[in-house]
Amino acid sequence: MNSKLITTSDIEVILLRTGLEPLLDQLIERLREGFARLDMSTAMIPARTGIQYFKPDLGLLEWMPAAVGSGKATLKLVGYHPSNPVQRRLPTILSTLCVFDTTTGHLSGIMDGTFATALRTGAMSAIATDALAERKDSCLGIVGCGAQAVTQCHALSRVLPIRAIVAYDRDPLAAASFGKRIGFLGIPVKTVDASNLFTLLESADVLCTCTSEAPGNGPLFADFKNKPGLHINAVGSDFPNKFELPVDLLRRSFVCPDFRAQALVEGECQQLMPEAVTIDLSELLRAPDLQRSLRSELTVFDSTGHAYADYVAGLLFLEYAESMGLGTDVDLECAPPDPKDPYSFLNKPEFAEFTSRTADTTSH
Ligand SMILES: NC(=O)c1ccc[n+]([C@@H]2O[C@H](COP(=O)([O-])OP(=O)(O)OC[C@H]3O[C@@H](n4cnc5c(N)ncnc54)[C@H](O)[C@@H]3O)[C@@H](O)[C@H]2O)c1
Repeated sequence: MNSKLITTSDIEVILLRTGLEPLLDQLIERLREGFARLDMSTAMIPARTGIQYFKPDLGLLEWMPAAVGSGKATLKLVGYHPSNPVQRRLPTILSTLCVFDTTTGHLSGIMDGTFATALRTGAMSAIATDALAERKDSCLGIVGCGAQAVTQCHALSRVLPIRAIVAYDRDPLAAASFGKRIGFLGIPVKTVDASNLFTLLESADVLCTCTSEAPGNGPLFADFKNKPGLHINAVGSDFPNKFELPVDLLRRSFVCPDFRAQALVEGECQQLMPEAVTIDLSELLRAPDLQRSLRSELTVFDSTGHAYADYVAGLLFLEYAESMGLGTDVDLECAPPDPKDPYSFLNKPEFAEFTSRTADTTSH
């Protein structure tokens, strides 16, 4: 039975035809509308789970399912291997995204999830920033200058006027190449070393932490004297005991997770009591008055990575592939002529003994 295989080249053609920015804007809007409608009490989106290993390096494989009663479900498989960029010139996050038909369980599409993850993670921070940050010329602080930092800067630039970006990475090579990687934005970028990290933190109007700091090593820095109304997108905390922000800062912030149950286990919220986490992004998007009142406050978007964001991104790419005639139909799942005989698809003469017996059985 055919499944549509959407390769990296197909995604490149989709981006060439739509334009990267229009597609990012469209994704931001779809996520904003989708999350404002999302009802987690009826959606089937369990907190993700996975397996972790420590050899040859720290690594993690996770699965992120999502179904919202639309006839389609998605399952993202995602690997987190933070030694990849330096040791293998591979991204830390590698991912595959599957789309299923919930009437039959048929795999209708399978595509790269690495690009979709980066794009939707940026888009999610843009939505939270748009809801919680003051709309003024802003200085954007970045801690961790890897792959996610690129889409954080790009997506935030679509919702906020950014006058300057100040960035820090503990890896001097990652810091040194960051300006070039986001040069297309045309925003002045300054990188600082560890001795100026607190200057970066204290001058930011909006801050994104997107590091691969190891579980047990956080926070990245001690509490600091923030500018009034600072909004933080904490992106790197997505595993038990892995967090980036100091608990003192969290305690004096309004903390809004993307996915409450998941964030309490593996986000910044794991450092807080459950009752301190009052609403999630969906509820916030349905509360415009609350958004307005929070813009002058210290706020944190605890982004752990929501499977519904993958669902929205996956369906968007599948939709474009189908409308543009892209992707390759691959006969992947075995659907034998007799659904009750798994041997009945075997057509080669060598299998005649088994298939004729099948024919005999079915004819009686
Ligand atoms: N919230 C989400 O939806 C989501 C989605 C994707 C990735 N992530 C997480 O975001 C983080 C970054 O992912 P990525 O793909 O950009 O990884 P990456 O490896 O490309 O970049 C991470 C960067 O963080 C730097 N870093 C590590 N510890 C640091 C520290 N203490 N101070 C400063 N810099 C530090 C590294 O040197 C590296 O350059 C990861 O933890 C990943 O799990 C979250």
